[in-house]
Amino acid sequence: MAKFFGRIEFPCTIELGRGLEGAITNVTQIGYVDGQAGALIYRGYSIEDLCEHSNFEEVAYLLMFGKLPTASERADFETKLQQGGTLPEPVMHLIEAKPKDAHPMNVLQSAVAALACYDEESLEVTHNVSDPAAAMKAETDVAIRILARTRTVASAIARARLGRPLIQPDPELDFTSNYLYMMTGEKPDEVTRRVMDVCLILQADHGMNASTFTAMVVHSSLSDMYSTIAAAIGSLRGPLHGGANEAALADLQTIGNPENAKTWSQEKMSKGEKIIGFGHRVYKALDPRATVLKRHAEVLCKQKGFESLFETANTVEREVTAAMEAKGKKIYPNVDFYSGLVYHALGFPTPLFPVIFAVSRTAGWLARVLEYLPENRIFRPRAVYSGQTDQTYVPIDQR
Ligand code: ACO
Repeated sequence: MAKFFGRIEFPCTIELGRGLEGAITNVTQIGYVDGQAGALIYRGYSIEDLCEHSNFEEVAYLLMFGKLPTASERADFETKLQQGGTLPEPVMHLIEAKPKDAHPMNVLQSAVAALACYDEESLEVTHNVSDPAAAMKAETDVAIRILARTRTVASAIARARLGRPLIQPDPELDFTSNYLYMMTGEKPDEVTRRVMDVCLILQADHGMNASTFTAMVVHSSLSDMYSTIAAAIGSLRGPLHGGANEAALADLQTIGNPENAKTWSQEKMSKGEKIIGFGHRVYKALDPRATVLKRHAEVLCKQKGFESLFETANTVEREVTAAMEAKGKKIYPNVDFYSGLVYHALGFPTPLFPVIFAVSRTAGWLARVLEYLPENRIFRPRAVYSGQTDQTYVPIDQR
């Protein structure tokens, strides 16, 4: 029987626009973006609170299970992540076999899709309609494995690009330390681990963005979880979404120094070009993730000798924000404007930036599809047809 949400009393006026602007996909308890106030919450907790007191594993648990874990739940979740993160050898070979200059997001997407071939449970669970509770439990276990494995694939990509031997997870390390360890071959110092953890927390979920919607659409056909996450990675890859942080950093490097930033920003705006790392469909105030990341970017850039790059970013922000405000437009830096700077200061190669984003957002994608699954209904919107209706077929030699 068709299920309707009924009339939705939402604290905003909804006007439908291109790109499904204003459309409602479902009712969720996972996270909320308050675009007017510039606030982001996961399950009721502000991201500022979580960044200060929590860690990525706990936040992933919170998103997926709806509450902060007890000590034993957290230990159990960590054990599952540690045990589930090892990659099958053929997937390691697949990553190594890709061209070294292939875009890491394409490698990530194909490796995650390939993982399905080595996880039989993932191919069976969504089809077990006779025992929905068992299906949910199995699907959740698959989801935890995918989170751990996506991270391992991301690290393997970083090493394969440099022709270095790939490393499997160290069972003694937490999720984020393991990510950095498998990427660099060295256990991270506490500052690096902490900043990386904050980056992963900040990007774990963000409302019904393009990649999350992609994940939900794919999973709503009861596809397997690996296909779902691979599709979401494909959506995240684009420069209007997760690919923006690499483009934003490239712009800062092209500008070169804070003195050039004013002219560069003004030229861009006078040509009517978009400035990457600015603007957002939902935020009409400063993106709260950008605020947290800017603080880290400033400290890290000072430590690592990138003060000029940070000042360049700061000047671009000032110029663009002021010019936009003068035009009555609410265009502010988004998460990608400062995340690229943080990753650069941490020493990560630019093409890997969206991959880090994907590892983090996998937690949100999984949480959202798991939430929707018990009352799943396949997504099937409609388009308004504005084409012709009365054409008659013309043979090819008469056209
Ligand atoms: N620079 C200058 N002007 C901008 C920018 C920008 N970055 N973003 C939006 N605008 C202007 C547009 O020109 C438009 O002006 P107009 O009404 O006079 O035509 C208005 O603001 C609305 O812009 P849209 O593109 O319609 O906004 P939309 O909601 O469709 O797009 C998006 C949002 C894709 C994020 C857009 O702001 C953009 O392209 N930003 C640059 C890319 C970027 O930083 N992406 C990362 C987003 S965050 C994330 O995915 C994690």
